Amino acid sequence: MRSCVNLGTWILHLLTLFTVVSLSHGRPTAQFRVKAVNLGGWLVTEGWIKPSLFDGIPNKDFLDGTGLQFKSVTTGKYLCAESGGGTIIVANRSAASGWETFSLWRLDENTFRFRVFNKQFVGLDGVKVVAVSNISTNSSTFNVVKESGNSTRVRIRASNGHFLQAKTEDVVTADASKVNGWGDDDPSVFVMTIAGRMQGEFQVTNGYGPAKASQVMKEHWNTFIVEDDFKYIASNLLTAVRIPIGWWIARDPNPPPPYVGGSLQALDNAFLWSEKYGLKIILDLHAAPGSQNGFEHSSSRDGSLEWGKTDETIQQTVGVIDFLTARYAKSQSLYAIELINEPLSPGVTVETLNKYYKAGYEAVRKHSSTAYVVLSNRIGPADPREFFPLAKGFELSVIDLHYYNLFQDLFNGMTVKQNIDFIYNNRSSELSYVTTSKGPLTFVGEWVAEWKVNGASKEDYERFAKAQLDVYGSLATFGWAYWGFKNVNNHWSLEWMINNGYIKV
Ligand SMILES: *[C@@H]1O[C@H](CO)[C@@H](O)[C@H](O)[C@H]1NC(C)=O
Ligand SMILES: *[C@@H]1O[C@H](CO)[C@@H](O)[C@H](O)[C@H]1NC(C)=O
Ligand SMILES: *[C@@H]1O[C@H](CO)[C@@H](O)[C@H](O)[C@H]1NC(C)=O
Ligand SMILES: *[C@@H]1O[C@H](CO)[C@@H](O)[C@H](O)[C@H]1NC(C)=O
Ligand SMILES: *[C@@H]1O[C@H](CO)[C@@H](O)[C@H](O)[C@H]1NC(C)=O
Repeated sequence: MRSCVNLGTWILHLLTLFTVVSLSHGRPTAQFRVKAVNLGGWLVTEGWIKPSLFDGIPNKDFLDGTGLQFKSVTTGKYLCAESGGGTIIVANRSAASGWETFSLWRLDENTFRFRVFNKQFVGLDGVKVVAVSNISTNSSTFNVVKESGNSTRVRIRASNGHFLQAKTEDVVTADASKVNGWGDDDPSVFVMTIAGRMQGEFQVTNGYGPAKASQVMKEHWNTFIVEDDFKYIASNLLTAVRIPIGWWIARDPNPPPPYVGGSLQALDNAFLWSEKYGLKIILDLHAAPGSQNGFEHSSSRDGSLEWGKTDETIQQTVGVIDFLTARYAKSQSLYAIELINEPLSPGVTVETLNKYYKAGYEAVRKHSSTAYVVLSNRIGPADPREFFPLAKGFELSVIDLHYYNLFQDLFNGMTVKQNIDFIYNNRSSELSYVTTSKGPLTFVGEWVAEWKVNGASKEDYERFAKAQLDVYGSLATFGWAYWGFKNVNNHWSLEWMINNGYIKV
């Protein structure tokens, strides 16, 4: 009994000591680590989170960034931007991939520009079809006319009023005027394949067009995640939400097209509700101007990555961080600002990020000495400690790492056990490598209990979730955040996982 009391006192002392030591280094103790959920879909990140948002878009197969491939019925070969762009369009490729894929810019539901692999736009040089201009305003516009009974057979009308035709494998022109029927002998007929789609906020707003987009987005913000959800999140022992936002929020209520006003009001609501239910907010700049990774979730228009290539995009982004911190610094719910989400290596360089992170950190510190500053590690090939030298000069800094057993080939065919072992062995050893006593705190800012295993049982999922909670909960010194809260795919919805007993926080 006595020894128990002694042991208890000793542990208490140790804990007190630990707390004091921890706080003196500005580190949260174990109980202060965030258990958070990402409000995916707050910004329209990926269409699959809420597909119905896209249902009302006219001609919704043809959104910005959709990749189209065209096979000539006469040559039997695909249209191709020779050399990937910079010269003529030919019709001599027997298989289609990058150079044979034309990425849409949607001007209205029937009018498009086509962007090729090297980023030029398809245009006309006389009647010759070329891809030489990289300036969108100089390029031609096109309509895609579908055969009424078979929407995979199409003609492409150029801005001169004529249809494109594959005269030979080497000669593609925009000069077919009289066409009859849809036979296999007509060089203006092509078989169209959709090779890829994008469904982020750019696509949804530009797809609806200004008036309708405003209505649709307001409806989305008012209904998708509401006050009751914040109450639910807090009552399930979560302590924080990570909210993805787009750069144009700083220009609300009149953001540049196609974006529409209202996102700032939605964020104000999130702060009100978080304050009311005692939740912390990690503000996550998920979409930076020009796109930092080319994915739809960073609101890329067509898959391009342009962020950081000019000083202007960096300065503009620092301005957004300044705006957000100034606005919310006084809120007790503002816990952390994540300067940018998932910059992609090698398109975004360490040098660019060092420069931006330094300026972004200073913009936060202008208004707040208490908000954590989260530096997102690069996705793609990168050393997980590459921002350590920079973070040395920062107070309250955090490194964010995202762990999905999904997007790399190494997860193909892994069994339940292999996936779980991977969490306990490989994830934990990487996380330990990044978590150092003097370095920045670590945050697993995105993870999910979903994998490439087919036919896994409920118990398998529970064990997979528990493995991640064990490892991230014990090793990540800043905490973790599940992706996401609501989703039509059940395992991606923490709400569903909690309600159905798959996850206990
Ligand atoms: C277009 O190409 C030129 C020449 O390669 C280059 O200098 C310019 O930066 C490019 N512009 C854009 C918008 O990509
Ligand atoms: C694009 O159009 C502008 C203005 O009409 C013109 O000055 C410029 O030379 C054009 N650029 C190209 C690459 O055609
Ligand atoms: C539609 O056209 C494609 C391409 O020529 C052809 O393979 C397919 O059989 C056609 N479908 C119908 C229903 O005619
Ligand atoms: C396609 O045509 C272009 C232009 O004549 C030529 O340079 C290229 O080698 C051809 N490619 C194939 C695969 O035939
Ligand atoms: C996981 O870690 C183990 C032990 O370090 C290593 O042998 C294995 O190759 C790693 N697995 C993968 C898929 O990287």
